[in-house]
Amino acid sequence: MPVPAPNLYPDFNVVRLSHVEFVVRDLETSKAFYHDTLGLQITHDDGERVCLRALEERNHHCIVLRKGEEPVAGHLGFKLYSEEDLDRAAHFFRTRGLPTQWVERPHQGRTLHTADPFGVPLEFYHKMETLPAIHQQYKLYRGVRPLRIDHFNCFSTDVDASVAFYNEIGFRVTEYTEDEETKRLWAAWMHRKGGVHDMAFTNGRGPRLHHVAFWVPTPLAIIDLLDLMSTTGYLANIERGPGRHGISNAFFLYIRDPDGHRIEIYCSDYLTVDPDHEPIKWDLKDPQRQTLWGAPAPRSWFEEGTLFAGVPVGEPTLKAQPIVAP
Ligand SMILES: [Fe+2]
Repeated sequence: MPVPAPNLYPDFNVVRLSHVEFVVRDLETSKAFYHDTLGLQITHDDGERVCLRALEERNHHCIVLRKGEEPVAGHLGFKLYSEEDLDRAAHFFRTRGLPTQWVERPHQGRTLHTADPFGVPLEFYHKMETLPAIHQQYKLYRGVRPLRIDHFNCFSTDVDASVAFYNEIGFRVTEYTEDEETKRLWAAWMHRKGGVHDMAFTNGRGPRLHHVAFWVPTPLAIIDLLDLMSTTGYLANIERGPGRHGISNAFFLYIRDPDGHRIEIYCSDYLTVDPDHEPIKWDLKDPQRQTLWGAPAPRSWFEEGTLFAGVPVGEPTLKAQPIVAP
């Protein structure tokens, strides 16, 4: 299916992705990973929930860790332009027969809990508590020096259908991978904020969360993190990279948190704000698609992901396979 024309005037306006909620089994273990090792700043900790922000962020949290038994993802959070957009979003989801509920979330204003047609739990809000700027407090910079949350990537059982839905709510495709045989989408990258993506979809058992990415200032921060992780007991948590993606041109590293949630450290993609920005097409079998330098990703990268709480998983409708490391 061809990539749809962008919807420049959607029913409601998403500013950007905002935050993720992860359920983790041990908060102290998770804090050692996200705060001590990666360098995210703790903004709330009551023994049951820990909130963190990255160094450029004014909003209270980009990641919420909630203590629980099963390591799942609670929801993906998105910021909207206005309170009116929030009401328009509720109307949009309701008229499509999708679940809508107003929920209380600490440090946030009115929050709409809903789901996309495939079951991915989404939360939209306009107001979040803001905090003083810390981006020039260099004494706080540690670990990989994370500046901001950059994107989500989800497994989808039907990437064409996921793209059609997110296109309708204003996400624009920047790059995509097509299966040459069926001409169906195998993966797609879609943005709201002017980078390569806020949200990406990968063909696979879904819906599941593939990874959450954080933007860092330089590839050297990634090298420093690798030195740190490999000498502080996190060697087995390094999954893929470092490398340069063909898609997005970003420098990357994939790591797994203590519960297996996948985190990407991501650096230097490009500007995509023009409304007539043409998407870039990749062939699924092109080895430079995954990694510009040619190295294929490990099998775990294509198969493992985080379940969304209470959401059943189905098999992908497209059976095409990418090149996988032996
Ligand atoms: Fe990514």
